[in-house]
Amino acid sequence: MRIIQATSREEAVETAASLVLERILAHPTSVIGLATGRTMEPVYARFCELALTSRVPLSQTFFFLLDEYMGLPDGHPTSFKHYIRTHFLRPLSIPESQIAFPPAGDVDGPERYEELLRESHGVDLQLLGIGQNGHIGFNEPGSDKTSRTRVVRLTEETISANRGQLTDIIPEKALSMGIGTIREAKSLLLLATGKTKAEAIKYLMNHHDDPTCPATFLKDHPHFTLVLDPDAASRINLNI
Ligand code: F6R
Repeated sequence: MRIIQATSREEAVETAASLVLERILAHPTSVIGLATGRTMEPVYARFCELALTSRVPLSQTFFFLLDEYMGLPDGHPTSFKHYIRTHFLRPLSIPESQIAFPPAGDVDGPERYEELLRESHGVDLQLLGIGQNGHIGFNEPGSDKTSRTRVVRLTEETISANRGQLTDIIPEKALSMGIGTIREAKSLLLLATGKTKAEAIKYLMNHHDDPTCPATFLKDHPHFTLVLDPDAASRINLNI
């Protein structure tokens, strides 16, 4: 696990955006896994600025969205589809033929998404946030290290942490890539910012393969980069 401890939140965001950009610049045909959430908003804003000014060739890159709420009308303002259109696709004029959205409305959605991932020869770089309870994607505590894309029930903790982002419908379930699915990405880039993530990061640093904190399942991935801002890193001491 490579840990990059930034000296400010801005620097952490810049680092994450630059790592994605560098990957695409070096390999324009990359497959990139995108996460959503508050943590990623400034990352996408910065990525868009950098990509537009440096004219990154994005037309051959393909994207997969990590997860999606269930039970929302297609493109509902709470949906991750809406989020990624707003923060990423539209600012960069990326057509929707270049992204796969989790088919959250379909009974065979999980199997189809796995098949699509296989057909695309997997994700090259997966961008990830972390929940306050250590969830990755929507793999809540109790998830299995080998879990595949599936429908998951959200914990009360996750629903209440995300309440500010929810509107008229409060989703109780989501379709999420599994931990086993995520681990198949060739490289993982997890960004944690803010004090609310400090406990989860401390737990992550001190535990391995612990189902109560699914993020620990990523630690033995051969190419796992963890980017932290000072607040997220405030309960760990990397100098020990
Ligand atoms: C989002 C996702 C979640 C978030 C996590 C953190 O696609 O899969 O795991 O990364 O809930 O969310 P924020 O960044 O809003 O704190």
